[in-house]
Amino acid sequence: MKTMRSLVTISAIVLLFALIWPQVERIKSQWYIFDPVKVHQIAKDAISANHSNSTALLDDIRSRLYASDPKIARSMNPNHFNQKSEWFFNNAGGAMGAMYILHASITEYLIFFGTPVGTEGHTGRHTADDYFHILVGEQRAYSPGSLEPEIYRPGDMHHLRRGEVKQYMMPESGCWALELAQGWIPPMLPFGLADAMFSTLDFPTFWRTAVLTGREMAKNLLTGKI
Ligand SMILES: *[C@@H]1O[C@H](CO)[C@@H](O)[C@H](O)[C@H]1NC(C)=O
Ligand SMILES: *[C@@H]1O[C@H](CO)[C@@H](O)[C@H](O)[C@H]1NC(C)=O
Repeated sequence: MKTMRSLVTISAIVLLFALIWPQVERIKSQWYIFDPVKVHQIAKDAISANHSNSTALLDDIRSRLYASDPKIARSMNPNHFNQKSEWFFNNAGGAMGAMYILHASITEYLIFFGTPVGTEGHTGRHTADDYFHILVGEQRAYSPGSLEPEIYRPGDMHHLRRGEVKQYMMPESGCWALELAQGWIPPMLPFGLADAMFSTLDFPTFWRTAVLTGREMAKNLLTGKI
C-alpha cells in the first residue's frame, strides 16, 4: 500500500515536471538581461580604445556594462576585480584559468576568464549557449572531424552552442576573455567544480567558487532576477 502510494506520488511529480518543463524552457529567455549582440559590441568598442594594458581594458568593459542599462547595473557584482579575493581559479575539463564574476543568476552568467600562461582542455557539454569574446591574446578550438583549428582573436566571438563540445586552447602568451552564458546555469556547476573535488583537491578554491557564485545568484534571485 505504501509502495503504491509512493509510486503514485513519484509519477505525479514526473508528470507535473514533464508538463511544466517545456513552458519554463520556452520562457526562460524572458529572464535574460544581456543581449549577446550588445555585449559583443561593448567588447569591440573597449578593444578599439587601445588601452595600454589588460587591466585598463577589463576596467573599461566593466564600466561600459554598468552604463549600458540600469537593470544590468543593479544585477552586477558590486565588488571591483581589483580586489584579489574576487578572483579564483577554475579547473574544468583539464583546462585551468582564473575567473572573476561580473554577473551570475539561474539563467545567465558573465565573467572574465583567462590565463596569462596558457591552457588547454575540454569545453564541457553545457545546458547553456556560450558566447566567448576574446579581449587579449587568442583562443583556438575545433570539433572532431575538423583538421584545421578555428582561431579567435581580440574582437572575435566564439559561440559554443548549447550541447556542443570542442577541444580548446589558449597559447602560452596568454588570453583573456569576456564569457557570457545563457541557458540553465546550475547544471553547469558540477563540470566547473568536479576537478577541484576529484583532481586538484583544492578545497579553498572549491569553497570560494561556491560562495562567490552563490552570493551573486542569491542576490539576483532575491531581487527577482532569475
Ligand atoms: C587604435 O589603434 C588603431 C590601430 O593602430 C587606430 O586605427 C585607431 O584609431 C586607434 N583608436 C583610438 C581610439 O585611438
Ligand atoms: C594600466 O594602465 C593604466 C592606464 O593607462 C594605468 O593607470 C595602470 O597603472 C596600468 N596598470 C598596470 C598593471 O600596468
